[in-house]
Amino acid sequence: MASVTLDRLTKQFGAVSAVDALDITLPDGEFLTLLGPSGCGKSTALGCIAGLEKPTAGSILFDGTDVTEREPHERNIAMVFQDYALYPHMSVRDNIAFGLRQQKLDEATIAKQIDAAADMLDLGQLMDRKPVQLSGGQRQRVAVGRAVVRNPAVLLMDEPLSNLDASLRVQTRTEIKRLQRELGTTAVFVTHDQEEAMVLSDRIAVMRAGKLQQIGPPMEVYRQPANLFVASFIGSPAMNFFEVEIGLEEGAIRCRVGGIVLTLPSSVVDASSLAGIGAKRSAILGIRPTDLMANAERDLSLEGEVFLVEPIGPVSYVDVEIGGQAVKGLCEPDEAPGVGQPIRFGAQAARVHLFDPASERRL
Ligand SMILES: Nc1ncnc2c1ncn2[C@@H]1O[C@H](COP(=O)(O)OP(=O)(O)OP(=O)(O)O)[C@@H](O)[C@H]1O
Ligand SMILES: [Mg+2]
Repeated sequence: MASVTLDRLTKQFGAVSAVDALDITLPDGEFLTLLGPSGCGKSTALGCIAGLEKPTAGSILFDGTDVTEREPHERNIAMVFQDYALYPHMSVRDNIAFGLRQQKLDEATIAKQIDAAADMLDLGQLMDRKPVQLSGGQRQRVAVGRAVVRNPAVLLMDEPLSNLDASLRVQTRTEIKRLQRELGTTAVFVTHDQEEAMVLSDRIAVMRAGKLQQIGPPMEVYRQPANLFVASFIGSPAMNFFEVEIGLEEGAIRCRVGGIVLTLPSSVVDASSLAGIGAKRSAILGIRPTDLMANAERDLSLEGEVFLVEPIGPVSYVDVEIGGQAVKGLCEPDEAPGVGQPIRFGAQAARVHLFDPASERRL
């Protein structure tokens, strides 16, 4: 187990900056997720930590020691990829033992560590099977087992769940989280799935085009997105956005959304942004569909006309036209209005986000 520091980590492929001056420090035992869309540099950053990619600039430290020039096998890391890459001719037991035998441990120690891993991962019944005789989820559990049994300083996982079907993905991610907690292994996990990132991580690092956009605990990134990109990437269904005029009146923020005037407490923006709001200016207002509840009595109220109802079980999504714009909110399934009917959403002012249209930063 080790702390990991990425210090201005940069990797260029020709003119493309795959990873651009990434500064991140993981304390020992942290589970960090690199999250972002395809091509944003997640795998390249992970490859640099593993030693599979040589950085163009910057450095990587394990427990304060510079490992940037070290070969992968000199770093005491373990990796799990999207495809399980188990040895097909070996049993589960031999697959898990493989890395331990390479470390030249004696057979008694190997047997003990394998039994512990089998117990922890609930693989007991499967130890003598070949990979072809396992389900996808079981194979991925073996791959994780093989990685952690070596007791690596850092466990690196690149989209390890994306080949699994939806229910196995949910089950296996719970296994991974439990195992990482039990072992206290420092882990870097890569995914483009924001829900997976939310569920698994101590902290999420959101990346875009090689650059770090925001890093923080899942609920902080969700509740206080640093910019429009993070706000639209995290959360499902995606946040509703409106172009608005805002101004400061009697210590409150007055916002115009279409024909509707909303009054927000000044605390929804950062104190340092408040000074700039004095005069009228334009802004982007964001609110999550899950923060717009039909018929709820809240501090804010938005009215519109229903054009689509989508039941998902516990709630229904309602698509509504407000001031000429499509907006998604929630309603109780049994209270879903018909298409063409009026609807009123209640919202908490504290759940409203304001962004600067030019810099795209949170105000
Ligand atoms: N060996 C390479 N040569 C040239 N360009 C590369 C190479 N590897 C990656 N890139 C480019 O670097 C950028 C980042 O790629 P990377 O694989 O790190 O993205 P990613 O975030 O892991 O994406 P995905 O979610 O699709 O796996 C992309 O623009 C990619 O095309
Ligand atoms: Mg990738």
